[in-house]
Amino acid sequence: MKYLFILMLLVVGAAAGAWGAAIVVRWNDNMTQTPKIVPGERVFSMPAGVVPRGGELIIPKEQRDVAAKRPNPVRASDASIAIGRERFTTFCVPCHGPEAKGGTTGPVATKFIPTPDLTNAELQKQRTDGYWHSYIVVGGAVMPAYGEALSSQEAWHIVNFLRSVAQK
Ligand code: HEC
Repeated sequence: MKYLFILMLLVVGAAAGAWGAAIVVRWNDNMTQTPKIVPGERVFSMPAGVVPRGGELIIPKEQRDVAAKRPNPVRASDASIAIGRERFTTFCVPCHGPEAKGGTTGPVATKFIPTPDLTNAELQKQRTDGYWHSYIVVGGAVMPAYGEALSSQEAWHIVNFLRSVAQK
């Protein structure tokens, strides 16, 4: 009698286990089979007569050469440089140091990667305003992108600031 009871328990247990496994398999399987829309899968055409308002063209970093050709639309006035300096102090000093001299002058750079000296005359000559603007907006090889923290306009102000601290 006792053995029969244990046998029954095993049979019921095995059945429950098999049933559970079947549910799990079907569930997992069905979740992958159900229809879904993948982001970017469908392109909806805009209704007729719609025009874009504002917004800024963002050129990906793979096309830095294209971005580098963009002219700087912001005149390097004292006001622009002052805004650039302020933003630089907020966002860039941790890695680039208070005077943009790079190396390990920034507190984070000692733990991260020493940054280039942005005041270096040779580097300043090699880079266009558009190139550095792109660097700020979409990031560099390891440098993070600041396009979500700063507007394009602010990035141009920072470029103007960087030009103002160039070594002669
Ligand atoms: C997390 C650290 C970090 C922060 C913050 C940071 N940078 Fe950088 N930056 C780097 C590193 C590292 C490099 C060199 C490696 C590379 O090119 O990615 C670099 C390179 C650069 C260059 C040189 C590009 C070239 O080769 O001509 C410029 C210009 C620059 N950063 C500007 C900025 C500005 C402006 C900010 C603030 C908006 C900023 N960085 C914030 C780490 C940082």
